[in-house]
Order: sequence, then C-alpha cells, then structure tokens
Amino acid sequence: MVSVKVKIALAVLVLSGIVVSQHCFAAAKKKAVKEQPKAASVKVEVKAEPSVAKSKILVVFYSRTGNTKKVAEEIAAELKCDIEEILDTKDRSGMSGYMASGKEAMKKQVAVIKEIKNNPANYDLVILGTPVWAGKMSSPVRTYVIQNKEKLKNVAFFCTMGGGGNKKAFADMEEAIGKKPAATMTILEREVKKNEYKAKVEGFVKELSVK
Ligand SMILES: Cc1cc2nc3c(=O)[nH]c(=O)nc-3n(C[C@H](O)[C@H](O)[C@H](O)COP(=O)(O)O)c2cc1C
Repeated sequence: MVSVKVKIALAVLVLSGIVVSQHCFAAAKKKAVKEQPKAASVKVEVKAEPSVAKSKILVVFYSRTGNTKKVAEEIAAELKCDIEEILDTKDRSGMSGYMASGKEAMKKQVAVIKEIKNNPANYDLVILGTPVWAGKMSSPVRTYVIQNKEKLKNVAFFCTMGGGGNKKAFADMEEAIGKKPAATMTILEREVKKNEYKAKVEGFVKELSVK
C-alpha cells in the first residue's frame, strides 16, 4: 500500500513537472517569436525612363501637283514632327507652267517663294522633299536651300518623279547644301497614285533611326 505521504509527494512532483515544462514551452515560444525573421519590406522600384533626347525634326517640301505633298505628309505623320510647305509665287499650271519650270530647273535658277514659318536652325534634322525637274531639284526648293543652308544641321532627302533623275537631283541638293544626307528616298509618281509608298516611308524613317 502506498502511503498518503508518498501519494502527496508524487502529486507535487508531477505538478511541478507540469509547471516547469509549461514554463519552458512558453520561453521557447517567446524565443521563437523573437527570432522570427521580419517580414521583408516591399520595395517598389520605379524604373526611370531612358533619357534619350528626342530629335526635333522638320519636313520641308515643295509640290506642284500634290505628289510630293502626299509623301511629305506621310513622313511627318510617321515621325509626328513639324511640316512646312514651300509656297511658290508663280503660276506653274498647264503646259506653259511645265515648260517654264523645266527651264528654271535646267538652268539652276531660283524661284520667288513666300516667307517660311519654321526656322530650320531650331531642328536637329531637316527632311527636304522635291519633285524631280529635268534631273534637278525644283526651283522653289533651290531657293529654300540657298536661303537656309547655313541653318541646316543634318539633312535627309526625298523626291517624287516620273521615272528617272533622282540620283542627279539628290547630288544637286547635296552640292547646293554642302552636306551629305543621312538617308534618301525616291517615290515614283505611279506609287503615289496607287497609294503604294507607305512601306518605303517606313523604311526611310527606320534608316534615319529617329523614331
Ligand atoms: C518641269 C518638270 C520636269 C520634270 N522632270 C522630270 C525628270 O527629269 N524625271 C522624272 O522622272 N520626272 C520628271 N518630272 C515629273 C515629276 O517629277 C513628277 O510628276 C513628280 O511626282 C511631281 O511632283 P509634284 O506632284 O509634287 O509636283 C518633271 C515634272 C515637271 C513639272
């Protein structure tokens, strides 16, 4: 028979064991909480926009019958840039207008043009467009070039034509400006009429690598 004293002693032993183990468990829990890694702070990284300065571009053109104008407008729309039409003061309509224009171009004569609106000196690149006249640039474009060549930092050329003379016309422009074009583009009159010049314009804009 286990005596009452022994029973009491056993009970005290068991109880104190429970208290000690509870204390240890609580301490361990506390330590665990303490040692838990802090929740990682969420860093929102704002990536800066690349600081590539966008070039300022101006498309300048002359057009007697609208072909060069259509192409110029397509280029300006692609590049979302400014556009300036060189306005002539002479009546160039009909056969007499055609003949007079051909003569002027052949002789490298200038035309009288209206005042321009955009100062080309404010642009990094000026894209010049002309119809080919007798294998030369048109006389209104020649006037623009002569009046503004000192203000042209970088140039690119485009032309429209019936069938030939583009290379000579570009050489004429290069010589008059004294600068090599960054790129050139030729669109045939029939391509304009059929609306088949957009792919060429896209290629031209890519070549300029300014978009
Ligand atoms: C006076 C004159 C001379 C021309 N000479 C040429 C030429 O040498 N080669 C050519 O392929 N087209 C020639 N053309 C055709 C024009 O270059 C062509 O029709 C051009 O697309 C007209 O552009 P525009 O509509 O913007 O005036 C000439 C046109 C004119 C009015």
